[in-house]
Amino acid sequence: MTKAKRIAIIPGDGIGKEVIPQAVKVLAASGAPVETAEFDWGAGRYLADGTTVPRDGFAMLAKEFDAILVGAFGDPRVSTNIHAKEILLGMRFRMDLYANVRPVRLLDASLCPLKGVEPKDVDFVVIRENTEGVYVDAGGVFKQGTEDEVAVQEDINTRKGVERVIRYAFDYCEKNTKLDGSKRAKVLMCDKSNAMTHAGGLWQRVFKAISREYPQIKAEHMYVDALCMQMVRDPRQFDVIVTNNMFGDIITDLAAGLQGGLGMAASGNIHPGKTSMFEPVHGSAPPIAGKNIANPMGAILTSAMMLNHLGFAAEAAKIEGAVLDAIREKKTTQDMGGALGTKEVGEWIAQRVAGR
Ligand code: NAD
Ligand code: IPM
Ligand code: MN
Repeated sequence: MTKAKRIAIIPGDGIGKEVIPQAVKVLAASGAPVETAEFDWGAGRYLADGTTVPRDGFAMLAKEFDAILVGAFGDPRVSTNIHAKEILLGMRFRMDLYANVRPVRLLDASLCPLKGVEPKDVDFVVIRENTEGVYVDAGGVFKQGTEDEVAVQEDINTRKGVERVIRYAFDYCEKNTKLDGSKRAKVLMCDKSNAMTHAGGLWQRVFKAISREYPQIKAEHMYVDALCMQMVRDPRQFDVIVTNNMFGDIITDLAAGLQGGLGMAASGNIHPGKTSMFEPVHGSAPPIAGKNIANPMGAILTSAMMLNHLGFAAEAAKIEGAVLDAIREKKTTQDMGGALGTKEVGEWIAQRVAGR
């Protein structure tokens, strides 16, 4: 018998606490051999006892778990967002989860705001650098509150960091196919090297050097502004995109729009060989939290992504198939044009998964 994989579940705040239980229900229904343990890290815990990440929390996750499933962090009661920084960015940085893999797949033509675009036209992936860039939050403020105030926000890019994420993108391109089974063939590096010449120059040089190691893969480049326009004009042209932390954040919200909105987008924060973390792309959405209206599909698709990563491809395929059935049968939340609640969608998908 396969030994059960251990999954740490951290629902977090807002709609994270609503969508993650649905993803966990679907995981259980898939029959994958997993054991879960839940942690209360988030705004509630922080407000109650001041803890963001308990002592040795990251070491515990790395040692005791095979993967982590996370909801979202962000609560209007914590205006500094300190807990989100320490928990979410803490996991990415301190556990060194350097590749943020964000697949962009249109499951049904009805979900795309673009005319005449079908599922085969939107099937690309963004590989976002996840441990450096402006997210390091290096910098400072000088003469705060005066007319002469100065704010500096540094963009940190190391050769090692840039190399490993670009190499990850080429390896991903080599090893993964599109949904229709066809080969992936292109890696596009997106930057703003025409204006940010120091960091951009490093990315350019490293991209050129690594692309030579993969002669069978086409290497392309686009500035991030032009890429945003092209993503909306013609998403068919994209295959694997690799970019820095901040551009990756921004373009994946744009890309979520092509898939049916933030409620549909899944992601993984990965370091091959280490305990990796999986989370929907969306945030805690405070205005819709607690109303049973958040779309759980992004979280559910994230759990399928996690199962694939853990080697349970058949169970992951069952989940993805059931989500597709739910969309086709309009068993969806309001953001997708349906009339069901978060729980009801989760329940429907879990039952469909169990019956597969
Ligand atoms: P958000 O993703 O929470 O919401 C953006 C928009 O998308 C809102 O209109 C929201 O209602 C909608 N939306 C998001 N997820 C949805 C879902 N599952 N179903 C239906 N609609 C959905 O982003 P925001 O409003 O910019 O941020 C809110 C809070 O979340 C902030 O504190 C932010 O820092 C945090 N945040 C956390 C994460 C994370 O933990 N991974 C990601 C993004 C934002
Ligand atoms: C995301 C979120 C986070 C990010 C925030 C909450 C810091 O927007 O996961 O996309 O910018 O990475
Ligand atoms: Mn984001």
